[in-house]
Amino acid sequence: MFRSKVTGTGSYLPEKVLTNFDLEKLVETNDEWIRERTGIERRHIAADDQATTDLAAIAARKALAAAGKTPQDIDLIIFATVTGDQVMPSSACVLQHKLGCRPIAAFDLSAACSGFVYGLSVGDQFIKSGMYKTVLVIGAEIIHRFVNYKDRETCILFGDAAGAFILERADANDPNVILSTHLRAEGSLGDLFLLPAGGSKIPLSQEVLDQGLHFVKMKGREIFKNAVRTMSAVCTEALEHNQVTSDQVSWLVPHQANWRIMEAVANHFDFPKEKVVSIVHEMGNTSAATVPVAFDTAVQDGRIQRGQLILLTAFGAGLTAGSCLIRY
Ligand code: UT7
Repeated sequence: MFRSKVTGTGSYLPEKVLTNFDLEKLVETNDEWIRERTGIERRHIAADDQATTDLAAIAARKALAAAGKTPQDIDLIIFATVTGDQVMPSSACVLQHKLGCRPIAAFDLSAACSGFVYGLSVGDQFIKSGMYKTVLVIGAEIIHRFVNYKDRETCILFGDAAGAFILERADANDPNVILSTHLRAEGSLGDLFLLPAGGSKIPLSQEVLDQGLHFVKMKGREIFKNAVRTMSAVCTEALEHNQVTSDQVSWLVPHQANWRIMEAVANHFDFPKEKVVSIVHEMGNTSAATVPVAFDTAVQDGRIQRGQLILLTAFGAGLTAGSCLIRY
């Protein structure tokens, strides 16, 4: 069996910034409440002429450059998103064309905020099986276009971003590989966090638009509790599976939804807060993009180094959750 390794990462945050003070002008909220309850200070918002694959293409080119690869080298694109350019064709196919790849396999993966960790797992399996050697995994979202800026419980949370990893088949004796991935879903809790309309169940209509069913709906407190419960469980699973203790892990890179959630997950297995990579203050919750963007930020600023053990984890609508232990 082959193993896969992360050979390059890249990320992109759109230029336009929406601060807590900007949101004070839109809904009844304030900077202090948002910072204390979530840790978020600002989010980045895509320009009107940008689609999700435009953000993804920038992140993908950076990841390719970091890996010393060209679009011609990619064998498979896995595009994790719930805010793709359109229902069809998939964003992965649009991105394949934008990057100028060969006629390789390309598909979207829908697991909401856990999408990138799911994507890493799928990419890892394709490399392990020997089917592909080089896989581009993307997490990208323009979620602000699905958020109601009259709903203070959701609009303060979300922003837009893209992150990308290049996975490659590792040399036989290379210790720096993806060690394991752990995925789960609990569909019975799907109503806690959803975007009700726009699919086959509730097609778009004027009535749907008037009722705001095309926007994200969330039961915040319930989602909070389940996020801590499930991310703690999948992190424990990853550590136990690899017989690793938390003090051997250099960095935890969790889904960036709320600093208090990340802190609670770290506390669950006595992991020091200083070793949690968080940029939630800078970008808010960017769904499938949070994990690769946070990871790439820590690679760029030198925190994440080759040879370190890194634990990634995410949680999202579904309810989905996942973890991935990497020796980087
Ligand atoms: O990717 C995964 C998806 N999402 C998440 O992970 C989000 C998970 N949930 C959360 O992060 C938190 O539950 C929130 C940040 C959404 C809310 O924080 P909370 O500490 O759970 O607050 P709460 O819902 O218990 O509300 C406390 C109070 C309420 O007022 P009352 O009923 O106590 O009078 C809310 O109406 O805060 C009020 N409130 C606000 N006040 C100012 C809710 N949103 C706001 C707001 N500004 N934006």
